[in-house]
Amino acid sequence: MYFLVLILCVVVINDASQYDPHLYPPTGPFFEGWYTRLTDTDNDRSFGVLFGRVLPRNSQSTSTSTSTWDSNPTTYISLVCSKGQGSPMVVVQAYPDEDDIEVTVRGGRPINKDPSLQAPSYFEYVVRPYGFYNVTPNSTVFSFTIDGVTFAGNFTRPLLWDSTGQGPEGWLTDLPMLPIHWFVYSLGTPGSYTWNQSGRVISGKAHAHQEKNWGQGFPAGWMWTQAYNRTANATFAGTFGVVSFNPVIRGPAHLFGYRNFARNLRLDFRPDNSFTTQDRRPCEGKATVNIYSLLHTVELTMSAPVETFQKCLRGPVESGFQYNLVETYVATIRVVIKKLGFRGFSVIEDQIFYGAAYEFGREYLCPQNPCTD
Ligand SMILES: *[C@@H]1O[C@H](CO)[C@@H](O)[C@H](O)[C@H]1NC(C)=O
Ligand SMILES: *[C@@H]1O[C@H](CO)[C@@H](O)[C@H](O)[C@H]1NC(C)=O
Ligand SMILES: *[C@@H]1O[C@H](CO)[C@@H](O)[C@H](O)[C@H]1NC(C)=O
Ligand SMILES: *[C@@H]1O[C@H](CO)[C@@H](O)[C@H](O)[C@H]1NC(C)=O
Ligand SMILES: *[C@@H]1O[C@H](CO)[C@@H](O)[C@H](O)[C@H]1NC(C)=O
Repeated sequence: MYFLVLILCVVVINDASQYDPHLYPPTGPFFEGWYTRLTDTDNDRSFGVLFGRVLPRNSQSTSTSTSTWDSNPTTYISLVCSKGQGSPMVVVQAYPDEDDIEVTVRGGRPINKDPSLQAPSYFEYVVRPYGFYNVTPNSTVFSFTIDGVTFAGNFTRPLLWDSTGQGPEGWLTDLPMLPIHWFVYSLGTPGSYTWNQSGRVISGKAHAHQEKNWGQGFPAGWMWTQAYNRTANATFAGTFGVVSFNPVIRGPAHLFGYRNFARNLRLDFRPDNSFTTQDRRPCEGKATVNIYSLLHTVELTMSAPVETFQKCLRGPVESGFQYNLVETYVATIRVVIKKLGFRGFSVIEDQIFYGAAYEFGREYLCPQNPCTD
């Protein structure tokens, strides 16, 4: 019995959440990037913070930092602020020197292995002189300053995607050949924030959606969307894209998770349990996606005024961070879910989300977009 307890303790202590940093392989391409999106609890404001690093194709992680990038930087931090419908999105960005990034786990220890599943997340990403992002099992605290903007947050415990630690990918997360991974740590961590732009301060309470990606680079094309409705206590996150396993083999891939905590509704859709049909109209800022599984259908109707996709952001590709995506924080998304019963399919959920995040990337961009202008 004592022995068993000891083993359990060792397992718990050694495990880490997939939200924790991965080891970089000896040679690229490899990247890891974190993204947190805040939805204000009391108004239409929304904020984002993203940071990460790319080890480009053919570069070695042991070589000293290459601060000379041709066109794509290999590091990135971006802070995003939206005050809601009708206000322009504010974006500030920085490209720190790789030597100024220090990533540690469990209170300052070096990363010596990949995180596995289960157990809480516990790491810190420090980028001198810009700031830090610190996660413990009980808290997420961050502060970054770029171009006179300081964005800081103080959040408590995560609202986990699920208790398995697998995230949106489910058991697929263990497949070694996946070129890109997506993990959602928290669907809505409660806390507070401050956005201080040259002395003009806005602050408030918010829920933080916390996720990350890692792998060889972002897909050839994708849509991504996320929203949190506090009144309904419902939330979702999803990505619909085309994944290339090599230049020849490409295929559609979708990951979508829906939660309505008040109604105890929890559904996950992946390529192994469902398929989609999509009508994408990026030049109109909208799309309809239908997801079909054995027992459920989901209809997502997504739209945002096309002029709100006004800022181009960078996403990781094999050579570094490239301007390749547009995003809005003021999308309206309706989710209708039907379930198969004795009398056929009937609606079990019809939920509206205002102030949703909605993104188009690479091949899914409208040909006229702010990334090519
Ligand atoms: C998290 O909170 C628990 C009690 O709620 C405490 O025992 C533990 O030490 C805390 N962990 C960290 C890393 O702060
Ligand atoms: C975060 O909030 C907690 C509780 O209000 C407080 O004790 C702590 O000092 C805050 N931390 C930071 C870095 O603001
Ligand atoms: C906001 O930032 C300015 C510097 O730009 C600083 O002087 C001021 O104290 C900050 N305000 C708050 C509330 O943090
Ligand atoms: C929403 O549901 C989660 C999970 O059950 C719970 O922790 C949280 O307190 C709920 N939030 C509200 C605003 O009801
Ligand atoms: C949240 O859902 C309720 C109904 O379930 C709706 O009335 C409200 O407008 C929604 N709020 C947001 C911000 O999406």
